[in-house]
Amino acid sequence: MTSKPDVIEVVSETEQFEAVLDLAGYILNQRSYIVSVIETASKDYVLGAFAGNRCLDFLRFYVQVVGSEEGRPPVMRDGSPLTEGFVEALGVDPVARRMGIGSALQRTAQELCRARGCDQIRSRSPVSSRENYAMKFAAGYVLHPSNENDSYYFLKKL
Ligand SMILES: CC(C)(COP(=O)(O)OP(=O)(O)OC[C@H]1O[C@@H](n2cnc3c(N)ncnc32)[C@H](O)[C@@H]1OP(=O)(O)O)[C@@H](O)C(=O)NCCC(=O)NCCS
Repeated sequence: MTSKPDVIEVVSETEQFEAVLDLAGYILNQRSYIVSVIETASKDYVLGAFAGNRCLDFLRFYVQVVGSEEGRPPVMRDGSPLTEGFVEALGVDPVARRMGIGSALQRTAQELCRARGCDQIRSRSPVSSRENYAMKFAAGYVLHPSNENDSYYFLKKL
């Protein structure tokens, strides 16, 4: 691949969305993480990059008030609650890995979150996702243990 594919927002009921679902199903069975309904989300995005019709990578994130999914009171600053982008799903086609496109997608998500006023970006993945841990460390994320299975949260201030 000579240049990085452009990242676009993918909307439901399109061929591109179906291509995202196919790839997400193939990578760590993440299809359900693309279509799940998140009650606390104020905005929801699915991003993808394509080579022709073929989906090379995907990332879903949503915007929510920090702490809302745990029922915590909002943390206010200058009269507004702190918000975050939460990355619910992420994957790169195995044939396109280690070419920087996962990092490019992650940067796009960070920029979109920042543009929407989010204070931080967060995600969670199991310790078995070694490539993701390596990519997160390389991008300056920090860890926080999750109470669920063998996973950690990744956090970055935007
Ligand atoms: C994690 C994932 C998205 C990374 O995508 P990618 O496009 O291959 O990542 P990049 O090419 O942008 O890698 C950026 C950096 O991360 C680190 N990295 C990524 N994959 C790595 C690996 N297999 N081993 C060691 N370091 C790795 C490196 O520092 C790399 O920089 P370098 O190539 O210059 O050394 C991809 O491996 C993937 O889809 N994994 C399975 C799904 C997954 O784990 N999803 C997230 C949790 S559910």
